[in-house]
Amino acid sequence: MRYDRHVRWVVITVCAGYLLYSLMLVISLSPNQPAPTAPVDQLISRSVVLHNIQEIREVSLISSKKSSRKIPHVIHQTWEDKFVPGQVAKWIPSWKKVNPHFVHWLWTERGSKDLIIKDFKPEFLTLYEAYPHKINKADVRRLFILYKYGGIFADLDVECLRPLGEMLSQYTCVLSQEPEEHQSLFYNDEHKNYALTGFMACRPGHPFFRYLIQQLNLYARNARSSDWNMNILNSTGPVFVAEVVDKYVKLYNHTSEGRIHIAPPSWFMPTFDPVHEDQFYMKCTRPDKPLTVKQEAICNRLKRNGFKNVEVKNAFTNHHWIHTWGFMFIPRGSIDVTEIVHDISIRDGHR
Ligand SMILES: *[C@@H]1O[C@H](CO)[C@@H](O)[C@H](O)[C@H]1NC(C)=O
Ligand SMILES: *[C@@H]1O[C@H](CO)[C@@H](O)[C@H](O)[C@H]1NC(C)=O
Repeated sequence: MRYDRHVRWVVITVCAGYLLYSLMLVISLSPNQPAPTAPVDQLISRSVVLHNIQEIREVSLISSKKSSRKIPHVIHQTWEDKFVPGQVAKWIPSWKKVNPHFVHWLWTERGSKDLIIKDFKPEFLTLYEAYPHKINKADVRRLFILYKYGGIFADLDVECLRPLGEMLSQYTCVLSQEPEEHQSLFYNDEHKNYALTGFMACRPGHPFFRYLIQQLNLYARNARSSDWNMNILNSTGPVFVAEVVDKYVKLYNHTSEGRIHIAPPSWFMPTFDPVHEDQFYMKCTRPDKPLTVKQEAICNRLKRNGFKNVEVKNAFTNHHWIHTWGFMFIPRGSIDVTEIVHDISIRDGHR
C-alpha cells in the first residue's frame, strides 16, 4: 500500500516535470525567435532553456579567503604563443620595470583554453570555440583569466608608466574608460561609460566578472553579423562591455561586495586612436547634426592641438592602439618574450 503510493507519487512528479520542461521549450522557441542556422545560433537558442541554471562552476581561488578580497599583484597578458610581434616588444617589459615585485604571466592560446576546460562549465568552452573572429576569443579569454585569478589584465600595446600598487590597494575592481574623443565623437555618448577591456584590474571571483561571463551568450550571436559595429564592438568589445556595465551598475553597484570603479580616461587610456583622426576632423568641422556641449568642448580641444594627441602626463598607463588582434595586423618579426622579460611565466596549459 505505502509502496503503491510512493510509485504513484514518483509518476506524478515525473509527468509534472516533463510538462514543465516542454512548456519551457515551447516558450523558448516561440515565433519571434529566428530559426537557428549557424552553430552559434543553435548554441544561443539552447542557452535560452539553460539560462537560469547557467552558473559558473565555483572555482578554487588561488588566494586565501582574506587576501582574495584584494587585487593580486599579477599582470596577465595573452598572445597566440610566447613569440610576440616586434611592434609591442618595447612595451611588455614596462610592467615589471615600473612594478618590480609584481608577477608577470603570458597566457598562450592553448593555456587559456586549458583554463576554460578545467575551471568552467562545458558550455563556456562551446561558446568560446564558436566565436568566429580571433579578436572575439582574445576579448573573452581575459574575462575567464581575471575571474579565476584576479590581477591586472593589459593588452600587449598598453605601456605601464607609473607604479600601480597603491592605486590597486584602494579598489577591488577597476575598469578603464575609452578616451573622451571616442566616447563622444565616435560612439556619440550613447552609453554612460565606455569601458575597455584593454586594461582591467580586479580581485578573483568578483561579481562583475561573473556577470560579464554570464552575459556573453546574449551577445554572442552579434559576432556573426556582417556589420563591423555589431560583430566586434557589440559581441565582445566596448559596446558589449558598456551595455553590461549599465545593467550591472543598476543591479549590484550598491553592494560593497560588487562595487566597481570606472576610472577616468586620463588614468589608463589618455590618448585617442589616431585611426579616427580624420573622422574627428570631419565631425568637428562639418558636423551632420548640431554638436552637444560636451562634443563642442572636445572639438575645441582637438582644434587647439591640431587633431593630434598631446603628451601624456601623470597617467598610470598608455594605450598605443596597435590593434594586434585586428584583421589588418601584420606582425613585424616575432620575439621570444622570455628574452625580453626574464622572469615572465608562460601559461601554456598542460597538454
Ligand atoms: C547590442 O546587442 C544587444 C544584444 O543582441 C542588443 O540588445 C543591443 O540593442 C545591441 N546594441 C547596439 C547599440 O546595437
Ligand atoms: C559604484 O558605487 C560607488 C560608491 O557609491 C561609486 O563611487 C562609483 O562611482 C559607482 N560606480 C559606478 C560605475 O557607477
